[in-house]
Amino acid sequence: MNIYRNRINDNEYIVYYSDSRNMNNIKDGQIQLIFTSPPYYNLKDYTTKPKKQENQIPHSPKTYNQTYDEYLRDMYNIWKECARVLADTGVLIINVDIIKYKTKNGNILPIPFDFISQCAKIGLGCKDIWIYKKLTGVPFQFGKKLKNRHEYLLVFSKTNRYKWNIDEVREPYPKDYIYPEGHKRRNSIGQAPSSVWEYFPPFQTGTRHYHYCPFPDKMVDRAIKLFTDRGDWVLDPFLGSGTVVARAKALGRNGIGYEINKHFSEVIERKIDTTEYEIGLKKQERLKIDK
Ligand SMILES: C[S@@+](CC[C@H](N)C(=O)[O-])C[C@H]1O[C@@H](n2cnc3c(N)ncnc32)[C@H](O)[C@@H]1O
Repeated sequence: MNIYRNRINDNEYIVYYSDSRNMNNIKDGQIQLIFTSPPYYNLKDYTTKPKKQENQIPHSPKTYNQTYDEYLRDMYNIWKECARVLADTGVLIINVDIIKYKTKNGNILPIPFDFISQCAKIGLGCKDIWIYKKLTGVPFQFGKKLKNRHEYLLVFSKTNRYKWNIDEVREPYPKDYIYPEGHKRRNSIGQAPSSVWEYFPPFQTGTRHYHYCPFPDKMVDRAIKLFTDRGDWVLDPFLGSGTVVARAKALGRNGIGYEINKHFSEVIERKIDTTEYEIGLKKQERLKIDK
């Protein structure tokens, strides 16, 4: 098995180029946050440009000849592994969407809702559902479906004792906020984010098209800050371009990723290696990194 391993400031970053249905390199209960986005069944043909993405879905190299039930069975096995490695105080967040185009009878494939039922069977209760509102996307509308501008963020935990560092993710109140400055309903640090998470998906075009679906850095940061402390372990079993491990590094957490497609090793390792450690940086310096 190919492995990337790096150690910086007492933290460790590990990428296994292998199938996350088996994560036996990770101990039971080791992980505090799993933040991930699996393949959305057959939504994208990952076997074509920009990088060959064979084995995108286990058992279905190149051809996408899996049935929806076979896809769900594979995902179930991965959620079972996630449940095993997750701490009792930990959280699993799955970013996923329904499939609504090109389905056989025009009915949607309810992937998020099937995942919720699967996770319930293995002791992962769904604690919340947030919306990832994509501020850019395909500008067209197809058939009798509205154009897609959102996906789901499903939040699971084994218990109600999961970490909740809400003060770490508070943000300034808007100028016209309903309660004025000094009102008892205003928190002195700032307001908690809402369930709608708005971000621009990373720019992906031409020569900068390195992966089909990278996470926005700031979306991952918010989850890491909310659900983990420095030194905790963060995992992405579908690492893609490496965002989650890179952001774990930026925020002084430990990171582990699994990526079945070795074509991404260059992208992943560059992303992790070039990500700066942001803890302790002054606000001005952090803003520079944001740009
Ligand atoms: C939706 S993409 C994730 C993109 C990622 N969020 C990012 O920021 O770049 C899903 C990734 O999972 C990988 N993958 C699919 N099945 C896998 C498996 N069984 N084990 C490990 N990786 C897998 C695919 O190759 C693909 O890169």
